[in-house]
Amino acid sequence: MANVNVAQIEPGMVLADDLKDQNGRFLLAKGVELSDKHLKIMKTWGVVEADIEGVTEQEMGEKQAADIDPKILEKAEEIEKQRFILSDLKHEAVHHLFQICVLRRAKKMSINPDLMKSDPFETATAPEESAVSENSKGPKYDPKKIIRNRIKLPSLPTIFHQINEAINDPKCSATHIANIISKDQSLSARLLQLVNSAFYNFPSKIETITRAVAIIGTKQLSTLSLGTCALAVFKDVPSDLIDMKSFWEHSIACGIIARILASYKNNTLTERFFVGGLLHDIGRLILFMSIPEISKETLLKAKETGCMLHQAENDIIGFDHSKMGGILLKEWKLPMSLENIVRFHHIKTESQIQLDTAVVHIADIMANALEIGNSGEHNVPPLVPKAWAEIGLSTGIITATVDQAKHHIDETMQILFRN
Ligand SMILES: [Fe+2]
Ligand SMILES: [Fe+2]
Repeated sequence: MANVNVAQIEPGMVLADDLKDQNGRFLLAKGVELSDKHLKIMKTWGVVEADIEGVTEQEMGEKQAADIDPKILEKAEEIEKQRFILSDLKHEAVHHLFQICVLRRAKKMSINPDLMKSDPFETATAPEESAVSENSKGPKYDPKKIIRNRIKLPSLPTIFHQINEAINDPKCSATHIANIISKDQSLSARLLQLVNSAFYNFPSKIETITRAVAIIGTKQLSTLSLGTCALAVFKDVPSDLIDMKSFWEHSIACGIIARILASYKNNTLTERFFVGGLLHDIGRLILFMSIPEISKETLLKAKETGCMLHQAENDIIGFDHSKMGGILLKEWKLPMSLENIVRFHHIKTESQIQLDTAVVHIADIMANALEIGNSGEHNVPPLVPKAWAEIGLSTGIITATVDQAKHHIDETMQILFRN
């Protein structure tokens, strides 16, 4: 039995388990022999995978790989090995993700043979331990001073503070929060588009913020509002340092993947995972805006030595973007749960592992591995094995999450960044 992606399911295959949609609605019973009609139902209801009798996941992967020229597969594997140079490929989840990346690259190469000629990762090398630590001379900048003195952050919209105050006030009613959000037409429009997107898959259209608050919940919609407001602040980041579209694409991918992973844990309150993912690298934007020349050095060092960018930041600046981001969220008085996600998403000590940080840590690795946008990282970040153990999901979930996320990233990008 294996979790087989809908695209790979063929008529005649037999369900090894009851089939439900993302919201737990029963669709088909265990033992049903699937027909074209069933496959259509599955696609209509957004089913991404099903347990199929008599096939293994390895067989499904091999079946896909068998259709590709072995030379192309070999080249794709060689390139991916360089990108995964910091990762332990023996870890089953990392290995699964690696294989997905090899297949994706090989498929792209089969369609566009020009990709075989150039090697986009030719400079990737294993990090030299000493290169990361030997030059460290301790903190050179004070992150709090950077936020307070070095850059003039455009002020957050008043509505941000009003929403923040309202969610922190236990006496504040759902109607009051809906009224605050409804006052801002642009924010309301974006939120309604978000909750009506395929991502939420509600059976009927949500027309008003009051209804959205009732369905999604006060705290959930407020968190989503805060995340949406926060994005608007970052506009003047030097374009020679980072492509902002690519940066937000990476952030949205991380947020969406985090939300999907959390939903597999039967967690219904998933907005903090989405917004946590959305904001996880935000500290990097502050660094780019406040100390652009030094930030350029960090990018160069990470590229030349093959180390993680946060290590290069620590080495050159004395702290990294996760600390900077955490301080920013604290200054903005955002909920502690979001601050912790941003501060600890690279998980440097075991005490930083909680479900929230572990989920975003893994989502970040997946977004980097799949090359959906980029926030400056050159190699795929290494997985902290205990973070994978913390979320307690099977490796099969990785394929399903990748397939599900693809559908939602472009749509969410459109909604949040249409201007
Ligand atoms: Fe990061
Ligand atoms: Fe990231």
